[in-house]
Amino acid sequence: MPRHKIIVTRRWPEAVEAELRNAYDATLNPDDRPMSADALRAAMDDYDAVLPTVSDRIDAAVLSGPARTRILANYGVGFSHIDIEAAKANGIVVTNTPGVLTDATADLAVTLLLATARRAGEGERELRAGKWSGWRPTHMMGAQVSGTTLGIIGMGRIGRAVARRCHFGFGMKIVFFDQFPPPKLDVPAERLATIEAVLEAADFVSLHCPGGRENRHLINAERLRLMKPTAFLINTARGEIVDEGALVEALKAGEIAGAGLDVFEAEPQVHPELIAMENVTLLPHLGSATKTTRIAMGMKVVENLAAFFAGKEPPDRVA
Ligand code: DGY
Repeated sequence: MPRHKIIVTRRWPEAVEAELRNAYDATLNPDDRPMSADALRAAMDDYDAVLPTVSDRIDAAVLSGPARTRILANYGVGFSHIDIEAAKANGIVVTNTPGVLTDATADLAVTLLLATARRAGEGERELRAGKWSGWRPTHMMGAQVSGTTLGIIGMGRIGRAVARRCHFGFGMKIVFFDQFPPPKLDVPAERLATIEAVLEAADFVSLHCPGGRENRHLINAERLRLMKPTAFLINTARGEIVDEGALVEALKAGEIAGAGLDVFEAEPQVHPELIAMENVTLLPHLGSATKTTRIAMGMKVVENLAAFFAGKEPPDRVA
């Protein structure tokens, strides 16, 4: 029986690529070069499944019209890079990889929170530049983390994992906003009625809501102004949630104390003024980047594909 033809848009961990090679007629991307919009469109005509990731823009132009592809098995939990409505309209199934990247992403949010509060990037830059003149009582004093208040926007799996780390690890009080909060919480946390209330109350605000059109610029100039001038914004969710221009202005005006960012509005481009700011920690979208997690994400894709091609409901279907 001919094997299903699949294409993987980027390089994946070797263990997962081996699984895909075993089970399918798989086209891999050993050079890890991003595919153009034209190449993605052409892939829709040539392959039974396309396996994209967050750095591929799968818009209506890629998804419309007759296509051989019946499933987009996305590598990643977020899918705001895929036009879900266009996929549905064309009867194309979309799956993602939830659950397995919760811990790695929560760990990275805490990394950014600590690094930004304690000026870790700035300190490391000073030391490496040979500019450290030795210990002194007023050198590079940062902000205290322990015992402060963390505000979480989006109390899903990752939001809760960050809350647990910060509450049980650093004794932080947790407040949160979520339109559809989980029925049960495994960490003491106070649900506030609005995003505004969370922004006003928190010393650190960490974003854990989905990206996409509905949350674009959820954190805008007006909302940034509600934060304390001593507070920090942490974003490991999606770049489009924060109006990056407004964030730059808020930082310049001292409306907030700093920011820790793993995601950006126009990745891999980063606002040049952010790059110049010492009170901002910038990471290149590393939330899920541990070997364990990246392999687990790939194995989720393998499960979703296997179910789909066996005529069953894929476990992580989002469209
Ligand atoms: C995701 O899964 O959505 C991350 O942003 C990439 O791991």
